[in-house]
Amino acid sequence: MKLLEERIQQDGRVLGDDVLKVDNFLNHQVDPQLMAQLGHEFAELFRAEKIDKVLTVESSGIAPAVFAALDLDVPMVFARKKKSLTLSADNYTADVFSFTKQETNHIIVDKRFLNAGERVLLIDDFLANGQAVQGMMEIVEAADAELVGAGIVIEKTFQKGRALLDEAGIHVESLARIAAFEDGQVVFAD
Ligand code: G4P
Ligand code: NA
Ligand code: NA
Repeated sequence: MKLLEERIQQDGRVLGDDVLKVDNFLNHQVDPQLMAQLGHEFAELFRAEKIDKVLTVESSGIAPAVFAALDLDVPMVFARKKKSLTLSADNYTADVFSFTKQETNHIIVDKRFLNAGERVLLIDDFLANGQAVQGMMEIVEAADAELVGAGIVIEKTFQKGRALLDEAGIHVESLARIAAFEDGQVVFAD
């Protein structure tokens, strides 16, 4: 998506070898106009799939996910993160290991908000190692819901998440694909 690539070039900052800081429009300060456009793009890409629900993980997935859900006219659910977990019969849970932070979080969705047979679209801000998406996949499976695909705002093609999701047969659509960071500059794929 041209608009997003331009915004990344303009406002993104490369940190080290593998991190893109986008706290100016996505991860801290949020640009609602841009989020609405990203949401619309996701909706167009997945509209034919007859989505019943959009699922993301707090916090940074929420903004693009809610705009996708608005455009698709369905509810958006965000999995909550917890460090420690009291297992409850009322929740679906999955472990998500963060390579960036070297810690495991649990993500949790109340069983009331994900039902058997629902067609679910996953949304997330970044696809890096794919752990967040994999955790959401586990929750969708536990709910006997149907995963129709994953919409990603920024994919880093050089990390292992995309391959993981491709192997699992997931329909992935990324609005910006970053092939590498070179001398502090973003190199887009294709
Ligand atoms: P994964 O979800 O693909 O496995 O990625 P990883 O464990 O590496 O990511 C851990 C956290 O770092 C996630 O946010 C993820 O969105 C974020 N992240 C990964 N790569 C980048 C990057 O290049 N730039 C930025 N800004 N974030 C990145 P989180 O901890 O769940 O936090 P949040 O959603 O509350 O922001
Ligand atoms: Na995230
Ligand atoms: Na993040």
